[in-house]
Amino acid sequence: MSNNLIIKNAAELVRCSGFKAKCGSAMSDLNIIPNGALIIENGVITAVGETSELAPKLEQPGFEVFEVIDASGKAVLPGFVDPHTHFVFGGYRAEEFYRRLRGDSYMAIMESGGGIVNTVAATRAASESELFALGKARLDSMLSFGVTTVEGKSGYGLDEHTEIKQLEVMAELDRTHPADVVRTFLGAHAVPQAYKGKPDDFIDFLISQVMPKIAERHLAEFCDIFCEKNVFSIEQSRRLLSKAKSLGFRLKLHADEIVSLGGAELAAELGAVSADHLLHASKQGIADMAKAGVIAVLLPGTAFSLKEKYADARYMIDQGCAVALATDMNPGSCFTESMPLIFALATLYMGMKPEEAVTAMTLNAAAALDRADRIGSIDPGKKGDIVILEFPSCKYIPYHIGVSTVEKVIKNGKLVFDKHGEGKQCYQN
Ligand code: NIG
Ligand code: FE
Repeated sequence: MSNNLIIKNAAELVRCSGFKAKCGSAMSDLNIIPNGALIIENGVITAVGETSELAPKLEQPGFEVFEVIDASGKAVLPGFVDPHTHFVFGGYRAEEFYRRLRGDSYMAIMESGGGIVNTVAATRAASESELFALGKARLDSMLSFGVTTVEGKSGYGLDEHTEIKQLEVMAELDRTHPADVVRTFLGAHAVPQAYKGKPDDFIDFLISQVMPKIAERHLAEFCDIFCEKNVFSIEQSRRLLSKAKSLGFRLKLHADEIVSLGGAELAAELGAVSADHLLHASKQGIADMAKAGVIAVLLPGTAFSLKEKYADARYMIDQGCAVALATDMNPGSCFTESMPLIFALATLYMGMKPEEAVTAMTLNAAAALDRADRIGSIDPGKKGDIVILEFPSCKYIPYHIGVSTVEKVIKNGKLVFDKHGEGKQCYQN
């Protein structure tokens, strides 16, 4: 039996059309259809237009309608993509939040033996089923914010067993949860106790012992590194990422977050898919990224939470960069699943226009995961991943600050979240 879903009468159908990242001024082009409709057949979008245009197709003999959603008075958008998170972790670090309120910096906490290594201890101690339950609850929360594809990083193991455990938990979540989970190997997230003072030896260990196994078992698609002063240098990052590239990983970097180290330039040199954070990216680095087509994944929630300066999204877009937005959801620098909060911060503090922020959370976020050909817009041929807001315009997303305006989420053509449904989460697993 065919499985067809129709959404009609949308006050605005925000298509975000495109099959590759949008740069510069093109980011403002959302291709909005008033009184819009779309058809999803067997999980794939097959038709998009004004409701009146699509009506004849529905009357064709043999066209079986499985479900009709009347979106009168509501905005319809592509499912959101969150392209940078660390959502599978054990333990919490609330006490560090309070240390930061008392004036300690994120790096000072890390240098005094706290930070990422605290989460490493808790993640090593957690069983797979505990991590699965924690990850599932966080994915449920993300889904309620309209996120249908999420990237997740390892990096709280820093040893072979736990890095693989985190990636396996994400693979199982990807199989069982409606949200798609894209996996990134971030073994080089911090220097573990056993390699204290010997970061080069730790990079050697990752390159020779861990990365080949992860590549062979296809446990991660991307490889990332925390390229930062007092963490991993440019040279160490180049060495690890070059090896990763030769093993078939696509590349990402935590770049120029705390100081201007040259991470943006390195991302361009290596042909990375994205460089993320970029609070202190140099003008040269931004120019290099624009030229090389590296997506700038900006994480304003982290700047907000750490009380750091914001990345200069306005400058990046004006220089021709493709910008994407993400939560950076993690237990240390930014503990939130709220895409609308990120949208509000991007428009209030990074100079992004609302239209640009929508592109940054959809098509460009998909491009940051190398998936702009499959998700991130309402175009025929793409996955039927759709968000229906309870308001008539996408302008309400940042305006209702931090709170979800999402009424329904559709994943692969199936309703998986309904704010007014009996159970909020309506998928079965
Ligand atoms: O993207 N900067 C490095 N990594 C994370 C934070 C991870 C943590 O503190 O647990 C980030 O902000
Ligand atoms: Fe991060």
